[in-house]
Parts: sequence; structure tokens; C-alpha cells
Amino acid sequence: MKKDYSQYFRRPSTKAARKRTTEDVQTIDFDSHLNIKHLGQGKHYLIQTYGCQGNEADTETIKGLLHQLDFKETTDERQADLILLNTCAIRENAENRVFGELGRLKQYKKSNPDLLIGVAGCMPQEESVVDRLLMKYPYVDLIFGTHNIYKIPEYLETAMLAKERVIEVFSDEGSIIENLPKKREFSHKAWVNIMYGCDEFCTYCVVPYTRGKERSRDPKQVIEEVKKLVLDGYQEVTLLGQNVNSYGRDFIDKDYTFSHLLNDLAKTTIKRIRFTTSHPKDFDDATIAAIAEHKNIMPHIHLPVQSGSNKVLKKMNRKYTKEAYLTLVDKIVKAIPHVSLTTDIIVGFPEEDDEAFEETLDLVNQAHFEGAFTFIFSPRAGTPAAAYHDTTSNVVKKARLQRLNTVINQGYLKGNKRFENQVVEVLVDGESKNKANILAGYTEHNKLVNFEGDCSLIGKIVRVKVTEAKTWFLLGERHE
Ligand code: 5AD
Ligand code: SF4
Repeated sequence: MKKDYSQYFRRPSTKAARKRTTEDVQTIDFDSHLNIKHLGQGKHYLIQTYGCQGNEADTETIKGLLHQLDFKETTDERQADLILLNTCAIRENAENRVFGELGRLKQYKKSNPDLLIGVAGCMPQEESVVDRLLMKYPYVDLIFGTHNIYKIPEYLETAMLAKERVIEVFSDEGSIIENLPKKREFSHKAWVNIMYGCDEFCTYCVVPYTRGKERSRDPKQVIEEVKKLVLDGYQEVTLLGQNVNSYGRDFIDKDYTFSHLLNDLAKTTIKRIRFTTSHPKDFDDATIAAIAEHKNIMPHIHLPVQSGSNKVLKKMNRKYTKEAYLTLVDKIVKAIPHVSLTTDIIVGFPEEDDEAFEETLDLVNQAHFEGAFTFIFSPRAGTPAAAYHDTTSNVVKKARLQRLNTVINQGYLKGNKRFENQVVEVLVDGESKNKANILAGYTEHNKLVNFEGDCSLIGKIVRVKVTEAKTWFLLGERHE
């Protein structure tokens, strides 16, 4: 019987994406018995990844699936038979870059009419983006979102063999797919998703719409994955979730939370455990105790505050106050005195007046952040904050960002300075981009270190004496 390829047309729906049901989360085992195994034989793919670590982890899954189909990776656009953009929707400028890139990539279709161009990730989860792609980018062959990566083999079969355009985006999905293949970027450090989606609905944020409802992976699956990584020689895992502190909130059959998971993972022999991102309102004492207790849980906490003004925090729906945040910081510092704290801050949120901004600066000074990602608020279609009345001019917003960054950069330098003349442990990532024989890696506190050494050290944890602290990195020398 001839396969019906026209089934792959499904647009996203903001209304469906906003809904949250109490239904139990389905865990589905990926079926890798493909009858199109050699679809990619002799063909090359290229993926561009935008945005957060979640997307980087997804790209590793997409690559895993493509390799199962016998595709090979290339970095040469002229050699590629498939170019996929794994996109980010968090701010408008991230989206503009993708549209610009799509315009530029069109030329390769002329020289290679069989080239497939695909848009994946968070942008296709937005109605307005899919409308724009349909109207203005008819040469995009594949459009799929964050929930259906596992269907790439089918989509490619349709696009390559039936020459049909594929547009399939699910907005109301809430399942977990286990055992998907992965082609990891590094062989010494790995992303490990512990949960998907987000139920917080901070009013500025598009993630709850693009990534769906919050669903935690079964701890057994997570622990097994980490144990396997240890056996494969991995030194470090970074646990991923939009709000890792709410891990397990959706389990109906057990009382098992993030601190339980940290304690269980610390008992595996993995050398380093990191996690991101934390939400201050859910960061509990048991989690602080777990980090303080286990040497293999790294003493770096990324704790997005977003604003130091209670009025703005309320409008953002962050569900904590400036005082509660500072109390949490105090508790963390008492339990883990040498901890490194970093944060995310949005400036220019509607109703952020001069006074509110000064409160943010004040909080930054009190919390002693050693780094921050800072952003100007970007209204996202479908989120409540996009409709808020905004009276602050762009000039003022830019000036606030600059003032904030000056203070944040002082924090970076101060945070690095405290390691001068100390011996630190560095997990070596590779050679420095700019100089041969110079290696680059990260300390336990997540500080970038450059030092002279041999490539044979890549992937190992080595001791380095810090000789000089710069704002963005440390300089050091190997310490036996
Ligand atoms: N505008 C600006 N920054 C945003 N973030 C999330 N949504 C927006 C937005 N609409 C920032 C937050 C979050 C980080 C990942 O991105 O600071 O913590
Ligand atoms: Fe966005 Fe808030 Fe969820 Fe983070 S916690 S992903 S900022 S909605």
C-alpha cells in the first residue's frame, strides 16, 4: 500500500500550548528498528544550534538519529545535503538571526536543488513563526518542534523520497521519549536531561509554550544514564531542566525530589555533577545540604534572580521577593562558604522605573554574583508581559544594561581574583581557540582557565596553579 505522506501537516497552537492537564506523563521507549536505515548513505548534514543547553542536548539527539540513518556530519555548507537550524525563541534577536540565516542559505538550494533545509526547536512551536515560514520561506522543507525530534527519520523519508514538505508541530504533547540515540559533542562531559518543559509561566517567558508541560524523567533512568557515562569514561555531567528544583513534583507514585536525585547521583562515581537552571522559590534546604555534603557536586549555582524590585518580580510572576532571594543566598553561603553564584537579570521590564532598577543594582551588590547573563526585555507573542504597558525608552534600557554590566563585570573579576595563587582542579576541554599548546578547561567553581600543556591532558582533571586572574578567565600553570 502506498504510504500517505500528506499526513505531516500540523501547525502549532498557542492555546493548546498554554493548557496544563493533570494526566500522568507517558514514558515511551524509542523504537530504533528502522526500515529506512540507509536513507542517509553518502549524504552529509550540517546543524546550527541556537540558544540554551537544552537545545545543545537536543542537537546531540538529532545527530544520533541522523547517524543511525547513515548520514555523515559536515561543516561545509556546499557539501551538505541537509541543513537544520535548531532554533531558540527566547528573545527577538535570536529569532532574527535565524530568519537572516535562512535568507542566506537559500543560495545553496540553487547550486544543489536536492538540498533540504529544516527549522527545528523552539521557533516552530510559535504560531507566528510557522505562518511567516509558510508565507515567506517556501524553500524550507522541514519544520518540526521540540516534541517530535524522534520522528526525524519519518520526516526525512517523506522529504527525500516523496519530495513532500513536512510541517509537524505538536503543542499539547507531554510525553518523555527514552533511549533515543545520542552523538555527544564531548567524550568527557555530558548533558543529562532530568526533566522537560516548564510550568512556571513567568510572564515574560515563552518556554512554557515552546517546551510544554513540566515532566520529570524517572530517577532510575537518570541514574542508569549517569552510571553508563561513568563506564564510558565521562568525568562530568550537567543535569538539565528549566527549573531543576521542582524535579519530581509531577511524580504521583513517589516522593522523590531534586535533593534525592543529587544524593543518589553523588553516590555514582562520576567526578563532577553540575545542574542548571535553578529557581529561587523552589531551592530547598535539602538541596543546599546535598551540595554542601558531596565533593562531587560542584560548588557553582546559577540562580536567576531576574530583578531586585519586588514590584517587578510580582509582575514577572516569579513568586519570591528580593528579601527571600537574599535570605536564600545567605543560607547557601553559610552552608557552602566558597560557593560561586551566578544569575540572569532582565532590564527594561514594563514598570521597571529608575527606583526599581536601582534596587536591582543594590541586590547585585549584596548577593556578590560572580557572573550574570543580562538581557533587555524582549516581548514575546502570546506571553502576558507582551501586553504590559511599557513606557521606558530604548535609550534608557540600554543605559541601564550598561550600568548593570559594569557592576557585573566587577563581580566576574572579584570572583576570579579569589583564586589567584591557589591550586585548582581543571577538567580540560581542549586547546585554546587562539593559541596552540595552550589548554582550556573549567574549575570546580566553573571558572575558565588557560594554561600550557599537552593535548594528552584533554578530558582529564588536572591540578593547575592560578598565576593571574583576568575578568573573563584565569591564567595558570600545571601543578603536579
Ligand atoms: N526577554 C528578555 N530576557 C528573557 N529571558 C527569558 N525570557 C526573556 C524575555 N522575554 C531571560 C531570563 C532567563 C534567561 C534564560 O533568558 O533571564 O533566565
Ligand atoms: Fe521561563 Fe520562568 Fe520557566 Fe525559567 S522558570 S523557563 S524563566 S517560565
